[in-house]
Amino acid sequence: MSPFHLTRTLPEDATDAALRADVLTGLTGTPKTLPPKWFYDARGSELFERITALPEYYPTRAEREILAGRSGEIAAATGARTLVELGSGSSEKTRYLLDALTGLRCYVPVDVSESALTQAGRALVAQRPALDVHALIADFTAGLTLPATAGPRLVAFLGGTIGNLLPAERAAFLSSVRSLLSPGDALLLGTDLVKDERVLVRAYDDAAGVTAAFNKNVLSVINRELGADFDPAAFDHVALWNAGREWIEMRLRSRTAQTVKVQELDLAVDFEAGEELRTEVSAKFRKDGVRSELSTAGLDLARWWTDREGRFALSLSMVRPA
Ligand code: AVJ
Repeated sequence: MSPFHLTRTLPEDATDAALRADVLTGLTGTPKTLPPKWFYDARGSELFERITALPEYYPTRAEREILAGRSGEIAAATGARTLVELGSGSSEKTRYLLDALTGLRCYVPVDVSESALTQAGRALVAQRPALDVHALIADFTAGLTLPATAGPRLVAFLGGTIGNLLPAERAAFLSSVRSLLSPGDALLLGTDLVKDERVLVRAYDDAAGVTAAFNKNVLSVINRELGADFDPAAFDHVALWNAGREWIEMRLRSRTAQTVKVQELDLAVDFEAGEELRTEVSAKFRKDGVRSELSTAGLDLARWWTDREGRFALSLSMVRPA
């Protein structure tokens, strides 16, 4: 039997229905918003990969530095036999963990992108024939079921992606992760940290304009998937620091008064000149806040590592014993 399994827990049409619902709610509300998950079609994923290499975008490099230095400690502290990775994408930074976890039997990458899972999974199986790879096509914000694999389990949620969830979504997400786990299991969580506003804003408004293109790509996704007629050039990229909420917001600002039609929703959306559509929140964290959000979900913070410059943190938390 092949050590690569792929399980779809998302119906083929679920993505389409969710996009329709999100676009309808988001473009008819005040202020207008769209959830960030719709950035990541093939072009959006490619633009995101380019963002991770930008001089201004430090989180990927900072997290890689921590993983490179601390994977041995993570392995020793967890003794994981199963590694579950949420939003695994290209599984690039995961190599450090896979190499350090000497008792690992099973790797469960979870992503909404079937192509990313198949590519990364097959490459891995070729390199590590003894490892069972059980890929899951699933939306990890919508309730997961895991295959019955060996414990202890380590769930990794890297990249600071938890910051793209709103506070209430974060609480629901962390509880659902906790509900998948048993005492002795652990969560490895990547969180970007609060820092100088200029450093933060530059990371989301780079000089080469890659993040601007990434932001506007969501309009092309809606054009293609829902027959809309957004003109990406009619919007400006905006990145700003919301000091009260301690999050970066990305917005698209309409350059003129305009009406956009979304054919498949039978919808006409009016924008005033200067009106902004919020496309992403990227929350930045402090240690005490992370500890308290984990604790509310029944997870006890055990270890906290940052990169040398203190820009990004990886935390290891353990399921609270009953
Ligand atoms: C890796 C998904 C967390 O919020 O920093 C990068 C996405 N948005 N530049 C982030 C993103 C704009 C990124 N996440």
